[in-house]
Amino acid sequence: MAWRRVLLMVLLAVTSLAHASPRERLSLDQGWLFHKGDIPMPPVKGHGASYNYAKAGGAVGPAGANFDDSSWRRLDLPHDWAVEGGFNPNENISQGYRERGIGWYRRYFQLPVTDRGRHIELQFDAIATHSTVWVNGNVVNRNWSGYNGRNIDITPYLRYGEDVNNIAVRVDADAMEGWWYEGAGIYRHTWLVKRNAVHIATDGIHANPVSTDGKRWSLPVEIEVNSSGKAAQDAEVEVTLIDPAGKEVARSRSKVRVQPLGMSTAKLQLPIKQPRLWTLKDPKLYRVRARLAAGQGTDEAEIKTGFRTIRFDAERGFFLNGQHVKLQGVCIHQDHAGVGVAVPEAIWEFRLRRLKEMGVNAIRFSHNAPAAEVLDMADRMGLLVMDENRNFNPSPDYMQQLTWLVKRDRNHPSVILWSVFNEEPMQGTEVGYEMVRRMVAAVKALDATRPVTAAMNGGLFADINVSQAVDVVGFNYQIKDYDRFHQANPKLPLTSSEDTSAFMSRGEFKTDRARNIMASDDTEAAYWGNTHRQAWKAIAERPFIAGGFVWTGFDYRGEPTPFEWPSASSFFGAMDLCGFAKTAFWLHRAQWVKLEDAPVIKIAPHWNWAGQEGQNQRVMVLSNAPRVRLLLNGKVVDERDVDPFEMVSFDVAYAPGKLEAVALKGGAELARDVVETSGAPVRLLLTPDRKALAGDGLDAMPVTVSALDAQGRPVPTANVKVRFELSGAASIIGVGNGDPNSHESEKAPERSLYNGLAQVILQSRRAGTGELKLRALADGLQPAEITLAVQAISTPPAVAAAEPVTQLLYWRISPAQAAQPDPNVQLADNDMNTWGWGEVPIKQAAESPAWRLYRTDLRLRADLNDGRARLVFRELAGKAQVWLAGVKLGEKTTAAPAEFSVLLPTGTTQRQLTVMIESDPAQSSGVRGKVVVVKP
Ligand code: GAL
Repeated sequence: MAWRRVLLMVLLAVTSLAHASPRERLSLDQGWLFHKGDIPMPPVKGHGASYNYAKAGGAVGPAGANFDDSSWRRLDLPHDWAVEGGFNPNENISQGYRERGIGWYRRYFQLPVTDRGRHIELQFDAIATHSTVWVNGNVVNRNWSGYNGRNIDITPYLRYGEDVNNIAVRVDADAMEGWWYEGAGIYRHTWLVKRNAVHIATDGIHANPVSTDGKRWSLPVEIEVNSSGKAAQDAEVEVTLIDPAGKEVARSRSKVRVQPLGMSTAKLQLPIKQPRLWTLKDPKLYRVRARLAAGQGTDEAEIKTGFRTIRFDAERGFFLNGQHVKLQGVCIHQDHAGVGVAVPEAIWEFRLRRLKEMGVNAIRFSHNAPAAEVLDMADRMGLLVMDENRNFNPSPDYMQQLTWLVKRDRNHPSVILWSVFNEEPMQGTEVGYEMVRRMVAAVKALDATRPVTAAMNGGLFADINVSQAVDVVGFNYQIKDYDRFHQANPKLPLTSSEDTSAFMSRGEFKTDRARNIMASDDTEAAYWGNTHRQAWKAIAERPFIAGGFVWTGFDYRGEPTPFEWPSASSFFGAMDLCGFAKTAFWLHRAQWVKLEDAPVIKIAPHWNWAGQEGQNQRVMVLSNAPRVRLLLNGKVVDERDVDPFEMVSFDVAYAPGKLEAVALKGGAELARDVVETSGAPVRLLLTPDRKALAGDGLDAMPVTVSALDAQGRPVPTANVKVRFELSGAASIIGVGNGDPNSHESEKAPERSLYNGLAQVILQSRRAGTGELKLRALADGLQPAEITLAVQAISTPPAVAAAEPVTQLLYWRISPAQAAQPDPNVQLADNDMNTWGWGEVPIKQAAESPAWRLYRTDLRLRADLNDGRARLVFRELAGKAQVWLAGVKLGEKTTAAPAEFSVLLPTGTTQRQLTVMIESDPAQSSGVRGKVVVVKP
């Protein structure tokens, strides 16, 4: 018996080791299998099949564990299949004329036995749009939000060791939540998070810096402790505050007792004196680190926090740390050129950097939750955020979407406003008011520190309306009502939540409605909107309007207002879909960046008007300087004061050459901009956004493609087709050019320039190192080539994708019989009880000589259907015969437990598999090990 004790001790040691291991957050992004289109669930008919189908783990078809996915495409996430397809005039204009449809994803993975007893959570950061998730044939989640994440406790369904676990996801992207392009598929990251049974919950840290006067601070912290353990557990939580320099500045401890499968909250206070503040120019971030000790196990989690105060004043607008800040905001959707909504973090970083360059200090993520990493970036970069909920609905399912958003995002210093809706027809009704009241209460229960707003485009003066239920009223457009509403509601803080809706095509300076082109001169706007200049002036001149949110920062797919086919993406952006500046970018930069921070000067049109010599061209100069001088070919055209809203325009008789604008203050030159008439393009130029790419398979960068003339001047009218060749540890993940009317592929290694520019997006490969070379070629032009370093960097920890394995887990077991039965005897379809049910390993206790039948169904995967695959019984005990569809495949003639295998005849239909075992009275018998189908 001594060896048994040793075994027990070893087992205990292994288990306690497992419990002591730290949390792991592992990427699941690699190695998915994808099928575009639906695979209807096979019809379930007959009593036996119906009975099985209704049982846990009994999912059939592509949702089931043993589905044949051998023909599916292998890919890595994030993935947006809508952007891979073409354009179709019969598809929805709002979704950018892209086919969305239905898709399936599957993935396989294994878990070491040491994970047994840990808490294992499957996390999807977002899936567009409706999704259903199965794990090992159990449906584990249904989500009707294309923007919210889901954290699914999959611990009970998992298997360890040799067994392969399966995730299946059905995505219904025909479902829509918006009137803009929403993409299709698992377009954000996926994770497997392993923690000990007693652990800090996901989004379970809430640190809430409070100050009454901006000087004295307290930091209440709440830590949610969850347990999937089997016994009540005492635990200690220790929280430390780490300052921006990495120094610990405060520490506090608290004890909690957590019941099995229960949750307890530890509440602590951290003393903090004179913290460094989070400001827009210097957004200092502290870290709040929580450590949990519970019996043998520990856990650790960390969030970032910032010390800042916010306040909306009904007379004077918004205050950050007691200082007035006018919100210079933009609304943005979440798609980018080439990649759709599957936007790599580095491309988000590029987008936010471009917004900062434009002078933006606030972003409204319209009209949905952004990716978590984008809010981290806003924290780091010093941007203010209006965080918006997608669906206006206080029923439990939708309320869960709202509370998920607040719980996930309430630690971010960047977030200054929660928005519960955008433009809801019920905004001026009692029903709308009652709905908002409930949603506001749900937000406040989780975060009482930030005001709640709703973006209203009407109903403002109704007797009962939504403005009566929010802290800050958001105006979408309605400029004419700013004053009237303020007078009627002098105590209500107001902001524009959306304004402008002006149109520009990048690089075009003459509107041509027949060709779906809008001049980039700030003269074109939607009839419900305003030009950029009108909208900002109305906001800037009213101190009681906290600020504005321009519709939009970037173009996005869908809503090609005012046009339709062939236009497929919007004209609203201050930048195009690639992030190339339109005139509005410079206009806002001139309005929003202070002269003392950086002088801004920009000439709006290009100077390539061949054939229009002598004709007047309208030249707009965007500048934050008080005065501007314009010169053509060295001769002063004029010098004028700059209106800070209207800017300054000149009519200049066109003559080719050099047009120069000089920013002046008190007669002194501060900066100048030059545009020159170019010749025909003779060569290409590649301009990378950065010098190197990190070789982690995640890093990405946009490279600008342009054309130069013989003198090296940019050719702003070049529209040549460019082909790309790439070598090294990177891939081209998308191309774009910002032309809303283009139907070129976003995935092909080629793209035409649109008004002189195109963008190619590179992404590193995992474990990439060395160099990459990108070449750009165009007929008749000199090619361009760049070499970039791919820096070796540790790739984030990940769960390896396992190969799909057919595992025969579930068996029916006949009663023991004294005489040899017919192995093909049929059990009545409605008989659920004569034969037993079992999952391998199935061990019968030693029994007097007896025969039993073990039965299951086998369906051979197409990639194993070559007559060479073997069915392997890892341990078969007793003499045995193996029968498939009435045919004997093999016989085990000895009784001793042993591995046994048979060759499988071809055929991919579902076939009945029977193992007939004659027990050895001296020992246990049965299908005592795993049963798998393997390649030779
Ligand atoms: C608003 C709406 C936006 C967008 C915009 C276009 O009404 O909130 O999502 O549709 O109009 O002008």
